[in-house]
Amino acid sequence: MITSLAILASGNGSNAENIVRFFMSSPDVNVSLILTNSQKAFALQRARNLGIPCAYFSKEFWQDGHAILNLLQSYQIGFVVLAGFLAKIPDVILQAYHHRMINIHPSLLPLHGGKGMYGDRVHEDVLRCGDKESGITIHYTSEVYDAGQIIAQYRCEVKPDDTPETLASRVHALEYEYYPRVIERLLSSLEK
Ligand code: GRF
Repeated sequence: MITSLAILASGNGSNAENIVRFFMSSPDVNVSLILTNSQKAFALQRARNLGIPCAYFSKEFWQDGHAILNLLQSYQIGFVVLAGFLAKIPDVILQAYHHRMINIHPSLLPLHGGKGMYGDRVHEDVLRCGDKESGITIHYTSEVYDAGQIIAQYRCEVKPDDTPETLASRVHALEYEYYPRVIERLLSSLEK
């Protein structure tokens, strides 16, 4: 049976596009929907270019959750992937997609996570703390930001002359390489 994925993204959407492209030739997985909480998200443009249905929902809808859950269910979404999504997930969606919704964070959680820790702020914090390594964490979503059960972590070096930008690009490379593969692995274990 084909699993339909939804991707939630608030910004650039490079991970969203990478995931769409990874599964384009898959007989088992179809990215069916891209949702955002930001009208300005470049992820919307990427979705249109890729021919993936997409929708923007304003803050009130993300606070309530029911209309979004209805849409997910009408697309028979079996698994939800957050990729740079910055709004809080409503409880009604968390419950409906328990252990079927994951997030990626651009650091080695629990380090440099929590509310307000996103984008370059994370990399700035890593550099400020003098960490010798950073990386990515893929985890289940929960009511608390960045605190859900960890599924996988991948590491990279922090170089002495790194800026937030150079570190971000090393971390992004890990995201592009591993996020789709982890999704694929989780989906195949769900099917068994
Ligand atoms: C990624 O670094 C991801 O880990 C974080 O937000 C960033 C999104 O980048 N949650 P993009 O929008 O996929 O380019």
